[in-house]
Amino acid sequence: MELTDLPPLTREPSRLLHRPGDLVLDYYPPLLILILYAHRGEGEIASLADRLEEFYPGHPLLIQDRSVRPFAVAGKRGKVPEEMIVTEGGLEYRLNPYRGQNMGFFIDMRDGRRIVRELAGERKGGEEFRVLNLFAYTCTFSVAALAAGATKVVNIDMNRNSLDVGRQNHRLNHSRLPGGYGGQALFLPHDIFKSFGKLRREGPYRLIIADPPPSQRGSFDLRRDYPRLLRRLPEMLDGKGRLLLSLNSPEMDWEEFEALVEGELPRFALERISPPGDFKPREEGRGLKLLLAAPRP
Ligand SMILES: C[S@@+](CC[C@H](N)C(=O)[O-])C[C@H]1O[C@@H](n2cnc3c(N)ncnc32)[C@H](O)[C@@H]1O
Repeated sequence: MELTDLPPLTREPSRLLHRPGDLVLDYYPPLLILILYAHRGEGEIASLADRLEEFYPGHPLLIQDRSVRPFAVAGKRGKVPEEMIVTEGGLEYRLNPYRGQNMGFFIDMRDGRRIVRELAGERKGGEEFRVLNLFAYTCTFSVAALAAGATKVVNIDMNRNSLDVGRQNHRLNHSRLPGGYGGQALFLPHDIFKSFGKLRREGPYRLIIADPPPSQRGSFDLRRDYPRLLRRLPEMLDGKGRLLLSLNSPEMDWEEFEALVEGELPRFALERISPPGDFKPREEGRGLKLLLAAPRP
């Protein structure tokens, strides 16, 4: 299929093209990453690469074929480094282009990071603003929160390697974090469901972020685990605390996700955070959903 409707390049990372079930074209300046979800032959892949070179001349390109498992590198143009730095809102994050789904930086969570910065930026001088970052992965929310003035972030993820990248992300931004990178970020390599006692002792929190995987065998099952996670959160919030809840699964639409949250947290008012224009899924509600939950007055 032809690559039509290619938009101009942006200054920051963005999704240039999204054809659900077919392909995605992401841009991490200066690198283009074309992700194929439907299998294509060598000739077709070469002509896609030619088209991209014609429209975006001089930009390195990596093509990932995710129609096979594990994913394969199906093509490459120019210099594509093993590891690079992406910049968003003046903050830097590590990216490993050859890691398939596990590249270290979720481009579609841009609005989530923006909201975290806005919320942490509301902190009044001298006030405590603790953040609990559940399913922290490479801790991009933590960097964003600390840069905006959060006083402490507790990051928890059962994958120790991801948290190590998280530490590097903090080090990378040392000079951009008001308190530098020191004791304000905690990294807990544990299963969240076995750590509620510890997490509570590190609180109370002004903001709790929950960004779980859609489902991960043995560690997170959406319908079983999201409700029991939600039930534990209110007791960890401080008086003004809010929740940022995500769901990135086609299994539930907005209404179902809201019903799930309202069922467990009836005293919270919910606000939908719609994905930015470049991440609008073709079928409304099937992609990433973000809810900001605040206790009703
Ligand atoms: C979608 S990623 C989180 C992305 C991250 N919030 C970000 O913005 O970059 C999901 C993460 O959840 C972690 N995870 C899954 N089940 C878990 C559990 N029961 N306890 C702790 N971490 C878990 C995985 O290791 C993975 O890093």
